[in-house]
Amino acid sequence: MSSSTLSLDRLPSHVAIIPDGNGRWAKQQGQERTFGHVKGTANVKEIVTFAKELGIRVLTIYAFSDENWQRPLQEVEILMDLLKQYLIQERETILKNKIQLRAIGTIERLPKPVLEELKKTIELSSQNQEMILNFAVSYGARSEIIRAVQKISQDVLKGKYKPEAIDSAHFAKYLYTPDLPDPDLLIRTSGEMRISNFLLWQMAYTEMYVTQTLWPDFNREEFLKALLEYQKRERRFGLTEDQI
Ligand code: IPE
Ligand code: IPE
Ligand code: MG
Repeated sequence: MSSSTLSLDRLPSHVAIIPDGNGRWAKQQGQERTFGHVKGTANVKEIVTFAKELGIRVLTIYAFSDENWQRPLQEVEILMDLLKQYLIQERETILKNKIQLRAIGTIERLPKPVLEELKKTIELSSQNQEMILNFAVSYGARSEIIRAVQKISQDVLKGKYKPEAIDSAHFAKYLYTPDLPDPDLLIRTSGEMRISNFLLWQMAYTEMYVTQTLWPDFNREEFLKALLEYQKRERRFGLTEDQI
């Protein structure tokens, strides 16, 4: 399969990924979960590069969820360390490729050295325009929505506007993604048919693609398959077939 069968003028603007299955992949190889996370991190590099080459405007990757903090401490530490290494090792490539790095989530919870590396790349890349790489780290959609409600309530209490003035567009401005388009396509690897607290508000009309392939095996060809499948979908947004 090649990218020539793909309509490059109809690419999803925003692709969101739940890169799941690192643990199962490692188990299949008779290895510890850590081994899967190492391979999974290497694969993030590969897919980010490919998305940039294709011309995807926004790529959001679910790197670590609110709930993932409850994993065994040793695994959490390994994941944090891998994130830090990724940020250090990929900084040059991110900057060279004019990628703008962003993060969504309660990033204050990250260990200080990880947060510092993250902030450094975010700052250095803030003017880049080629692609937005958005990492969801220490992210949960419910916390995001609650945070938005708290901020809106504070503004109402300050008398900035009345509760009646709040509509969808207004609400969305208080989320972590005020200036991003909603994801057009969600890819989840390893077969699970669930959202796992990811972008609940933003994915109201996102096309979902679930593959059995485990994240460390999700390569360029698999990504192309997902994009081709997306291009076959008819997005209706609640309208009838004739209205599209
Ligand atoms: C995804 O792989 C990586 C993170 C959640 C950080 P998992 O670690 O969830 O792998 P499985 O689902 O146990 O196979
Ligand atoms: C979702 O994967 C979160 C990330 C990939 C970071 P999980 O493995 O945590 O999700 P569940 O527990 O299977 O729903
Ligand atoms: Mg998992």
